[in-house]
Amino acid sequence: MKIGIIGSGHIGDTAARLFVQAGHEVALSNSRGPQSLKERVQQLGPQARATTVEEAAAFGEVVLVAIPLKAYGSLPRAQLAGKIVIDAMNYYSQRDGELDFQGHTSSEFIARYLSGARLVKAFNTMWFKTLGEDGKPGAPLDERLVLFIAGDDAEAKQAVSRLIEQVGFAAVDTGTLAVGGKHQQPGAAVYNRPMRPPQAREVLATL
Ligand SMILES: NC(=O)c1ccc[n+]([C@@H]2O[C@H](COP(=O)([O-])OP(=O)(O)OC[C@H]3O[C@@H](n4cnc5c(N)ncnc54)[C@H](OP(=O)(O)O)[C@@H]3O)[C@@H](O)[C@H]2O)c1
Repeated sequence: MKIGIIGSGHIGDTAARLFVQAGHEVALSNSRGPQSLKERVQQLGPQARATTVEEAAAFGEVVLVAIPLKAYGSLPRAQLAGKIVIDAMNYYSQRDGELDFQGHTSSEFIARYLSGARLVKAFNTMWFKTLGEDGKPGAPLDERLVLFIAGDDAEAKQAVSRLIEQVGFAAVDTGTLAVGGKHQQPGAAVYNRPMRPPQAREVLATL
């Protein structure tokens, strides 16, 4: 599969490596432009290329967005229309400033902004080092760590779940962008707490 990466820092770069290892092609982008990613894509090999943000969005059948949330206004809406977009972003007011989500979760807000994109909130609850080191491709699902997913598009969620499994984690669905989006926010019970599916389901059942 072709996967665009917008934001190639801790999370974007780690996910890109995992996607390449799972056999996918990736287009990495950041705010400074493709030249700044040249060395990194050489390390990742022929399945990786460095592109502009717009090119990464156009390239991906799935596009992972992993930039500071405050920069959402620069996302290329036209190129992301119709795409499965993975929203790995979290809102931290100290970093992102005061943003008004108009009573919605940050992912609902981004989904409205990117109208037409099929948004799934995922890859946002796990520290990048855990993501980079603790995947177990091939292990039984209940023995893997969980990456939580939320979204309003069942087919898009299935596609993202498959990707999660290919890179060695188990996908657990927290619900819609409204409900699951809240369960996956910073400070929530499953946020940044590595756990396996049985525990994840137990915790979610108490919410
Ligand atoms: N760090 C974690 O463990 C972790 C875990 C889960 C979720 N997250 C979330 O993932 C997002 C990224 O976090 P991170 O830790 O990966 O940040 P990071 O290491 O600072 O990387 C941010 C990346 O976004 C790029 N970027 C910034 N503004 C951009 C723009 N307008 N257009 C395109 N690219 C842009 C940066 O490019 P330049 O360097 O060229 O500016 C950089 O590649 C945040 O929302 C964070 O809350 C982080």
